[in-house]
Amino acid sequence: MLLLAIETSCDETAAAVVKDGCQMLSSVVSSQIAIHAEYGGVVPEIASRKHLEMITPVVSQALREAGLTMKDIQGVVATRGPGLAGALLVGLSAAKAIAFAQAVPFVGVHHIEGHIFAAFLEQPVAFPFLALVVSGGHTHLYLVENFGRYTTLGRTIDDAAGEAFDKSAKIMGLEYPGGARIDALARGGDCQAVRLPRPLINDGSLNFSFSGLKTAMLQRIAKHPVTIPGQDASDLCASFQEAVCDVLAFKTEAALRQNGIQRLVVAGGVACNSALRSRMNRMAADLGVELHIPTSALCGDNAAMLAVAGNYYLCNGYASPLSQDVTATWEMDRIKDQFS
Ligand code: KG4
Ligand code: ZN
Repeated sequence: MLLLAIETSCDETAAAVVKDGCQMLSSVVSSQIAIHAEYGGVVPEIASRKHLEMITPVVSQALREAGLTMKDIQGVVATRGPGLAGALLVGLSAAKAIAFAQAVPFVGVHHIEGHIFAAFLEQPVAFPFLALVVSGGHTHLYLVENFGRYTTLGRTIDDAAGEAFDKSAKIMGLEYPGGARIDALARGGDCQAVRLPRPLINDGSLNFSFSGLKTAMLQRIAKHPVTIPGQDASDLCASFQEAVCDVLAFKTEAALRQNGIQRLVVAGGVACNSALRSRMNRMAADLGVELHIPTSALCGDNAAMLAVAGNYYLCNGYASPLSQDVTATWEMDRIKDQFS
């Protein structure tokens, strides 16, 4: 089945063509980061308007790069939520309009479901597996038993890991979104140089908290301003990353052990982080766990990732009605409700 996928949940207008839910024929991502950087974060109204401007050229480019035309498409998948309502509406409406015009089925999927199954575009993973999702809006541990069957084992009680990266970067005077800048600066740094807290690490739960770490960064910078680039900035970035990795690795290991799971998927934009990738690789090797972290291009927001679950749903008769609306907040545990 040839699927056209569309993603517009935040600040990336993305479209892709994927065959049989696994073979990526094209993946186009048009980023609005430079526009929002001026404001220090995503401005929802600007995001929606930019999606409107870009959606048609991005979809056309995805078809062109796949060597196909609209007539070849056999189904359309788009992000239904969670995300910015106005931004989601652009992609979902475009997807429904294309499906209607081409008389092919349409399905709306969960953005995080997309992130989790991005790994399948490289190699299928056997169920059940544990998914650690670390993005700008999520830091969650899910038990994944099948498509549509997700149980939340742990989650952040305040900021997401990506938010902690971006806020800490802002405190250091780095441009939005600062996750990748912290990663780059940390490369020459000493991760033991600055003592930072490991929030909730010993609370016995599988939950996370990152707001205290952000406050600790704020206090540290107030007392010891850093020069960028410079050794002190690199040391602070490396120490910050180490704190985030310690907490993520500790809770992920606990979730694997408690549930007797042998396979781990790490997904979302923060999975691009080089320190997290090597930490997870080491942990998986020590535990004898099979680890899947997609290449960086598939960790950040893209449309191809949506086609994996989309293909499963459409091939199993779970199309969405064209009356489907976006849902700005949507718990993964409730996904199966839409098909019952
Ligand atoms: O998954 P994503 O592209 O969008 C959301 O669904 O949120 O994740 C974006 C987040 C941002 O917070 C960004 O700073 C972070 O991923 N990020 C990184 C890196 N690359 C992107 N964080 C740490 N290290 C990186 N290399
Ligand atoms: Zn995302």
